[in-house]
Amino acid sequence: MKRLLIVWHSRTGAARDMAEAAARGAAGEPGVETRLLAVDEAGPENLLEADGYLFVGPENLAALSGEMKAFLDRCYYPVLERLNGRPYAHMVAAGSDGTGAARQLARIATGWRLKPIAEPLIVITHAQTPEAILAAKSLDGAALAACEELGAALAAGLAMGVF
Ligand SMILES: Cc1cc2nc3c(=O)[nH]c(=O)nc-3n(C[C@H](O)[C@H](O)[C@H](O)COP(=O)(O)O)c2cc1C
Repeated sequence: MKRLLIVWHSRTGAARDMAEAAARGAAGEPGVETRLLAVDEAGPENLLEADGYLFVGPENLAALSGEMKAFLDRCYYPVLERLNGRPYAHMVAAGSDGTGAARQLARIATGWRLKPIAEPLIVITHAQTPEAILAAKSLDGAALAACEELGAALAAGLAMGVF
């Protein structure tokens, strides 16, 4: 049995829905046990016991959210050199961009010697005004389907040992 860890942070619900959709997709793979953890519940031990990772969170101020960054800061040295070669993917909820968060995570994952199995999946929520940015988000079916697909692909690859 392989283990997939999905670590998520969300301020207004978009990234949480994305993480849950990915977990639904992964659940279709019988050879994989999926763990869905909020960033404040996850620690180095969860990273060490998993075979692959999906990181999910919003872009905030052209970067990873502070909460996601704090999780990575907390875990970086305790697991350094112990995750080498494991596969991962990244999903970003963004008002209009998302590339800053994607670049930042890619650099951190390179330090951990993780292997990206897909391009970052960025879902644009079109929140631009303060009111829209602070409002609870609900994503359309196409966005959620893409997240489900990525979760399923990651789980299938883990089960088959192709990464
Ligand atoms: C403090 C803050 C900063 C943000 N900065 C960006 C940004 O740099 N680029 C962007 O595309 N969206 C930005 N957004 C919009 C969020 O990424 C967008 O609303 C996203 O859907 C939030 O995901 P969540 O619902 O999971 O929290 C920002 C939102 C907040 C609250």
